[in-house]
Amino acid sequence: EAGRLAESMSYQIYAVGGFVRDILLRRENLDVDLVVEGDGIAFARALARKLGGRVRAHKKFRTAVIVYTPPGEGENGKPLEEQKVDVATARLEYYEYPAALPTVELSSIKMDLFRRDFTVNALAVQLNPNDFGRLVDFFGAQRDIKERVIRVLHSLSFVEDPTRILRAIRFEQRFHFRIGKQTTRLIKNAIQLKLIDRLSGARLFNELKLMLREKDFLLDLLRMEEFDVLKAIYPAFAITQREETLLREIEKVLNWYALLYEPTAPRQWLLGLMGLTERFSDEDARGVATRLAMPPKDRREFLYLRKQCMAVLEQLNTWKYEDGSRSGLYFILEPLALEGILFIMARTRDEDLRKHISLHLTKLTHEELEITGEDLIAMGLEPGPHFSQILRAVLAAKLDGHAPTLLAELG
Ligand code: CTP
Repeated sequence: EAGRLAESMSYQIYAVGGFVRDILLRRENLDVDLVVEGDGIAFARALARKLGGRVRAHKKFRTAVIVYTPPGEGENGKPLEEQKVDVATARLEYYEYPAALPTVELSSIKMDLFRRDFTVNALAVQLNPNDFGRLVDFFGAQRDIKERVIRVLHSLSFVEDPTRILRAIRFEQRFHFRIGKQTTRLIKNAIQLKLIDRLSGARLFNELKLMLREKDFLLDLLRMEEFDVLKAIYPAFAITQREETLLREIEKVLNWYALLYEPTAPRQWLLGLMGLTERFSDEDARGVATRLAMPPKDRREFLYLRKQCMAVLEQLNTWKYEDGSRSGLYFILEPLALEGILFIMARTRDEDLRKHISLHLTKLTHEELEITGEDLIAMGLEPGPHFSQILRAVLAAKLDGHAPTLLAELG
């Protein structure tokens, strides 16, 4: 569809980047990146009309995003998920290169690919009908995918964009690749030159979140530690045995929780950050939030959750399972966000407590109060502020399995 449309506008069109890389790696990837040699925005508008989607255009960068819902329905009869297609414009005059690089005349697609981060991401597939499926590989991407190496395209790549240091590690760990020798040297140089300091908090935070969303994010963090990237982000960051153990437990708890297929997914980055900052002073925790320029809501939540978790852990130090402790635990954990409860589970070494928290998550939080204030009025009680206390007492009794007795007494 896109190929025919581009052809009718006399544009060359390519699928590029992670989408192509993941085809060769046989990994699922639903984010399509297109590059058009021509007017990318005009093309995006025309394609969106055909797909029945919307377009967000960035005139300054000559890029556009098409958002549309594919026709058909999913397994459960629901409409399919919205899909995003990024469209970029490849134009020669658009690229400005650091003076140190040799100036060479390149075709626009070659230039577009050359400004990317790694060879494995600098691969394109032509989509025009006559050349459909032709692989465009100027920089040895296929070889590097086969040899499983992450390599930059030129020696100024990390100077141009230091977030690529984190991206290199993320891709290396995700695909079980190896960062190439020369690229390793360039990363070490970039860190010595303190290029990470130049990154805005927002970009760092974004990159760190992407990293902490990876399945085995601990491996990413260990690799960051090896390169001294963590220290460069914030001096107090370190993965000692203590962080490693805690983060491993956090990963285990996250995997366990994922198997429950609960509708709400925990924010993995928040848990990862809790693990990374577990032994931080409040001052350092605020320092991290500041360095990452966390949006006020994230910052508040992160700092508050830390405090809450410390307090709850303190409270649970003396916790022992006995009669009435089900409701006791319920009321202790109730105010915590999901990430907080999972953090406590990962942090505690008390197996018994862990079992009860998992019970709390899988069962107790779904427990509904079957009695309301109206029922109490119907029972002849005077309405008032004590109602909420009574309702809590009923819930506690229900959790501890003696609600009938309590209701009989109330009655
Ligand atoms: N890119 C880059 N430098 C960056 C970020 C992105 O060169 N700092 C390029 C890469 O070529 C990448 C493309 O932009 O393939 C799209 O970026 P992104 O969506 O972040 O990359 P994906 O490879 O799709 O990564 P993921 O699989 O994590 O979505």
